[in-house]
Amino acid sequence: ADPARVRHFLRDDDLSPDEQEEVLALAAEMKKDRFGHRPFEGPRTVAVLFDKPSARTRISFHAGIGELGGLPLIVDGVSTLMGRGEPIEDIARVLDRQVAAIVWRTNGQELIETMAANSAVPVVNALTDEFHPCQILADLQTVRERFGRTTGLTLAYVGDGANNMANSYLLGGATAGMHVRIGAPAGYQPDAVVLGRAASIAAATGGSVVAVSDPVAAVQGAHVVAADTWVSMGQDGKEDRVRDLMAYQVNAELLAHADADAVVLHCLPAYRGNEITADVLDGPRSAVWDQAENRLHAQKALLHWLVTRP
Ligand code: CP
Ligand code: NVA
Repeated sequence: ADPARVRHFLRDDDLSPDEQEEVLALAAEMKKDRFGHRPFEGPRTVAVLFDKPSARTRISFHAGIGELGGLPLIVDGVSTLMGRGEPIEDIARVLDRQVAAIVWRTNGQELIETMAANSAVPVVNALTDEFHPCQILADLQTVRERFGRTTGLTLAYVGDGANNMANSYLLGGATAGMHVRIGAPAGYQPDAVVLGRAASIAAATGGSVVAVSDPVAAVQGAHVVAADTWVSMGQDGKEDRVRDLMAYQVNAELLAHADADAVVLHCLPAYRGNEITADVLDGPRSAVWDQAENRLHAQKALLHWLVTRP
């Protein structure tokens, strides 16, 4: 493969609006005919590397790569690969001779950017401190299933507006033509650069992005209400964060301000009683189990698209 032509998925805006649409359409098709697409027959191997814990991402990539006819190489604790101080650049050059794609959950975004810059095969972000783009593909697939579209719908995310999920909702939601509202207090507001980038994408797709501090204003009339943990992997200060974010809990009272047909998303794992109440997470508005299932279909479509595109 020509390294200059290889495509990576490191952040949500690595897919143009048309490309995101293509991947989501493929995901829907692959969900309908779950065992009918085996482009990795041979089998081709996909490396899936974890520097942080995971349930859904590990399970869905493992199962999904197998369903594509491929072989998943799951590596926990990437120190088993790089623990002798070997540079990421060298690991990328070793891996890309042997696998069809590299999926990595790690810490800083710069690590996965270094991997991609040195890899002749696609590199996929399975969560970094900054972005969680595979999750947003699954979320958008879920929204399309529930509403038949994403364009023009309002998605409100309340809580830690500075974390990976907030950043990915801003970029991925704007790409999908959604109106993305972040509700977060001072100190938890989105990064200005990410917000600006999302605004420029939204200007082209007919969507919009805004960050507010009032949770009710964020959720007002929203079609999708999303929550995430208040304490992301690697973050300290749990007690302070829980205190600072309690007013942003997704509960029945807050949800009453959303559209009557609103659905609730949570990427999981959920902490009932903190960012979301049990009655909401386990209630009729919740789409979280479809959302978790769609990790499988969306990632199969993404890998298929990245690896086999001409
Ligand atoms: N939502 C998500 O990425 O779950 P895991 O951290 O369990 O993979
Ligand atoms: N924001 C969370 C998402 C977990 C899937 C974290 O980074 O821990």
